[in-house]
Amino acid sequence: MADPRPIGVFDSGVGGLSVVAALEAALPAESIVYLGDTARLPYGTKSPQTVERYALSAARALVAEGVKMVVIACNTASAVALDAVRRALAPVPVVGVVEPGAAAAVATGARRVLVLATEGTIRGGAYERAIAHMAPDVEVVGVACPLFVALAEEGWTCGEIPVQIARHYLQAHLSPRPDAIVLGCTHFPLLSGVVAEVAGPAVRLVDSAETTARRISAELHATGLAAARRGSGGLVLLATDGAERFARVGSRFLARPIGARDVRIVNLP
Ligand code: DGL
Repeated sequence: MADPRPIGVFDSGVGGLSVVAALEAALPAESIVYLGDTARLPYGTKSPQTVERYALSAARALVAEGVKMVVIACNTASAVALDAVRRALAPVPVVGVVEPGAAAAVATGARRVLVLATEGTIRGGAYERAIAHMAPDVEVVGVACPLFVALAEEGWTCGEIPVQIARHYLQAHLSPRPDAIVLGCTHFPLLSGVVAEVAGPAVRLVDSAETTARRISAELHATGLAAARRGSGGLVLLATDGAERFARVGSRFLARPIGARDVRIVNLP
């Protein structure tokens, strides 16, 4: 049975639009409602209790929009709040990005993996646990790279300063050389060029967007929730603050222009 209701996707800001781009490519029949909690960004420096509260209110706002599934397209919220959001929303299915990202890293066959993420994601050790569950022999080293979020937001993603910052974060972890680096934050795919420059060509970079899209596709089909043909909704964009900034910065993550008038501002409790 086809289900035309939209998929709900949220992130602390615009970074999760990279997951939306992968979803649109993998599932062109699906409509999407995206919520960027820009008023409360960043999540990555906040306590787990605060991130859980924010994630619950964002997820509930999407359910109120009539979505059939919620995707937590934020590594920090997936790392600390996935179980709480699943419990609160049941029976609505909830998919996070950490487990698909971990699966993508394991699929490279890497024996030594660096995970680059926010402080909140690294502190909780979610990637270490997810990778250990799938491949106990893989060595995982987590590196918090908080300045990468600001660089990606600024669009300052190449040149001397971003390379120096990447070197500062990575240098101590490049010997012995990792086989794979997980870009474990929705903002970091924009910095893949500088990370690759510092890490060298032999290191595989892993981004969870495509793996997450495949996971969502499998879950929609397994549960009979997939849409049959393109719904009338397309992509609806919601933000909790700053439509103009959301449109300007978000265009880079979605890889197509967004107009500020296409962004509806909502208030979350
Ligand atoms: N969306 C966050 C993540 O993927 C990065 C930005 C933030 O700190 O809120 O971890």
